[in-house]
Amino acid sequence: MSSRKILAIETSCDETSAAVIEEGKVILSNIVASQVKSHQRFGGVVPEIASRHHVEQITLIIEEAMQEAGIAYADLDAVAVTEGPGLVGALLIGVNAAKAIAFAHGLPLIAVNHIKGHIFANRLVSDMQFPLLSLVVSGGHTELIYMSAPDSFEVIGETRDDAAGEAYDKIGRVLGVPYPGGKHIDEMAHKGADTYHFPRAMIREDNYDFSFSGLKSAFINTVHNAKQKGEPIHTDDLAASFQAAVVEVLVDKTIRAAKDRPVKQLVLAGGVAANRGLRSALEKAVAAELPEVKLLIPPLALCGDNAAMIGAAAQVKLAKAEFSDYALNGQPGLSV
Ligand code: KG4
Ligand code: ZN
Repeated sequence: MSSRKILAIETSCDETSAAVIEEGKVILSNIVASQVKSHQRFGGVVPEIASRHHVEQITLIIEEAMQEAGIAYADLDAVAVTEGPGLVGALLIGVNAAKAIAFAHGLPLIAVNHIKGHIFANRLVSDMQFPLLSLVVSGGHTELIYMSAPDSFEVIGETRDDAAGEAYDKIGRVLGVPYPGGKHIDEMAHKGADTYHFPRAMIREDNYDFSFSGLKSAFINTVHNAKQKGEPIHTDDLAASFQAAVVEVLVDKTIRAAKDRPVKQLVLAGGVAANRGLRSALEKAVAAELPEVKLLIPPLALCGDNAAMIGAAAQVKLAKAEFSDYALNGQPGLSV
């Protein structure tokens, strides 16, 4: 059989993306159109604006992905699309585009969970070996997922309130950096030091869950109190202190969970996987405490939302002929 090619589409939030992926691991094209500039002046993603941008962009982006891959629709084996979780209006643009292409060209339709997509971004650069443990950290999710096989997902821990990326973006707003704040806080953190010693929530608890809203409140109170008293605000140190608290709990719980299970690999995934502090802390911790475990960290370009990761995850379903029919809908609250 010739190598199988999937056209993948991702529109769950504020990136319109299409990609062509071969055998679930070779990127023939991966076009990502970010809308971030349109949302920045509102300090967050405005769902209505996101949908409108997706409608305007989707056909062009798909055409571009096909052209860059240098293939015709007849060369495709399936069309994959993110069905959720995400913004319902945004998801529907991708789902309907995928259905139209599948119908027009007689191709099977594959529905992909966005979170699973983030995990499979790693497959585009390394082989994935099971069992593995994945730390998924994005704008909407913070989860520890144990996978005994490519199609088996067990959530063993998750955030009880804010997602890690969400906390970054909220404190970014307090410090006046543009949305999304994560990247800017990460840069500031490298110029500062952990002088504020914020709480490490739930770090001693005997579970794999996280909580970031207490840290966020401690951060905001510190800034407000300093402002009220007219005391200086050391923004780089604040960023460094916040980042140290986030990274310490993420790494501590991930290492503990990995030690409790027979994992071959530890896999970082999601937008916050781009965080320099998290990447290096996890590298150090794995080298020191789990030398027999291989750590996979996606390259920066594959950490944020993109369709290539959706194509990589879809290959698992293509192999089992697990297809969707035209009743496929956007599932904003879809869990793994
Ligand atoms: O996975 P993603 O692109 O979208 C969702 O599925 O949510 O993640 C976006 C999140 C945002 O909260 C953004 O601030 C965060 O990832 N992020 C970062 C960094 N780069 C992106 N957070 C911390 N450090 C970074 N370098
Ligand atoms: Zn995402």
